[in-house]
Amino acid sequence: MASIKLNKITSVWIISVLLLFIVSIVLGILMRLNQGEVISQSPITFYSNMTTHGLTMIGIWFVAGMAAVNYIMERYVKTSYTVNVLALVLTVIGILMFWASTFIGHFHSAWTFLYPLPFKEMGSETWATLMFLGSLTVLGVGWLIWSISLMTQILKKYSISQAFAWQHLRKNPTVETPPFILITMITLVGVIACLLAAVVLLVLFYAEYFSNGNFVNDALLMKNLTYFFGHTIANEMLYLGLAVIYELFSEVSGRPKWKTTWYVALAWNCTLVFILTAFFHHLYMDFVQPQGFQIIGQLASYFASLPAAGVTVFSISIAVYRTKIKWPLTNLLFFIGVIGWVIGGLAAVIDSTISNNIVLHNTLWVPAHFHTYNAMGNVLFSLGFFYWFSIQFSDKTKVKKSTTLTLALLLIGGIGFLLAFYIGGAESIPRRYSIYPSELSIGASLATIGAAFASIYFIAILIFFFNISKRCLKILFSSS
Ligand code: HEM
Repeated sequence: MASIKLNKITSVWIISVLLLFIVSIVLGILMRLNQGEVISQSPITFYSNMTTHGLTMIGIWFVAGMAAVNYIMERYVKTSYTVNVLALVLTVIGILMFWASTFIGHFHSAWTFLYPLPFKEMGSETWATLMFLGSLTVLGVGWLIWSISLMTQILKKYSISQAFAWQHLRKNPTVETPPFILITMITLVGVIACLLAAVVLLVLFYAEYFSNGNFVNDALLMKNLTYFFGHTIANEMLYLGLAVIYELFSEVSGRPKWKTTWYVALAWNCTLVFILTAFFHHLYMDFVQPQGFQIIGQLASYFASLPAAGVTVFSISIAVYRTKIKWPLTNLLFFIGVIGWVIGGLAAVIDSTISNNIVLHNTLWVPAHFHTYNAMGNVLFSLGFFYWFSIQFSDKTKVKKSTTLTLALLLIGGIGFLLAFYIGGAESIPRRYSIYPSELSIGASLATIGAAFASIYFIAILIFFFNISKRCLKILFSSS
């Protein structure tokens, strides 16, 4: 049972995430309007906005997953309220520093800040790069402490082998590991690993920054570290959402709780290994990278996605096929989110196949696939949790009216917005162009269409924001 303090801080997380989401979507729509030549931004404004949009989105949907996992985990183990507050404070400070670096300092090296770009910035303030690196340090420290704290609490109750559910690989296990604990544990290992890589990366950046030219980094090592961090965190945050779905889907359906079986345990343990090596697919075009790593990258990309997706789709299909279950908004969001995750995952696997990557590399296919499993996958996982959390304490009969309209807007807007990216990718339109040259004029038309559909998606998000925040504010200011 969650404490009042936990309810309140979870409400603060939810309101903050939704507010930041709204600002970030506006930046996204402005980018599409600029690419469509409906508005005209300077290249520096465009790339600063792209950097703000990308990192803010990754950050908020990571903390949204962490806040949800922290809340549910209280059902199984005690979690630290102090660490939760510390993570919130450091996230707010980190985001403010980051926004100062982009909005005021015009830092614009993209959210991947690929070495040596942050040191070669033109047109930004001299302090912007250091402020950006400082913001990442603050965010990283907060998230690392939070992740380690949650993992420590799990390990106080479950042994290592139980936390990874290895006993379920044998017949008749005596101790049961809930799927929520298993998936959270697997995910936290990945999160901690990639945050540690970020620490090494930042130390190397600082070392060069303060060396007055006496120390120069190895570009290939920096790229490996960057993508180990960036690719991994962007994927692990989805798994936080899945842990919540494994816990709540059956509960809100009015069905018995899902249990860990041998294949669930095996699939998630495989995911742990492969997700950490899939990032090599970002280096296919780096021909000095040893060839073996490229092959590992392709194989790991298949093996990282297939087991987790396989068992999750199987579990959800079994739960809904020919079974009368309740379909409140929470489950509809979870269900649609899983479909979005799978479609985005398939598009990612297509791109991670070396023979296809030669054609699709750095085209709009890339934002197409990751926006699919984020905007129509992970975001929906978290919205499902936010909705479930907020109605726990309110009159449930009052919350149905706008559901169908909101979902319709979300689906129409989301699908149209994504299709504009996919068609652009299939037409070989490059990603990260602020405007397209005349030879690629179809890119501009698609961008305008994408902006129109994104605005429909945005309206749906505003409706969610008003409904959910209203209830969260009540929780925040109630005395019980
Ligand atoms: C309707 C909502 C959204 C809109 C309109 C939007 C729009 C855009 C646009 C136009 C770009 C640049 C594409 C290019 O390479 O040319 C972009 C990049 C990106 N978006 Fe979104 N986006 C939305 C939602 C999201 C969500 C939910 C996430 C969650 C993680 C996200 C994460 C990113 C990231 C990481 C980048 C890459 C930035 C970079 O290259 O540095 N976006 N988005």
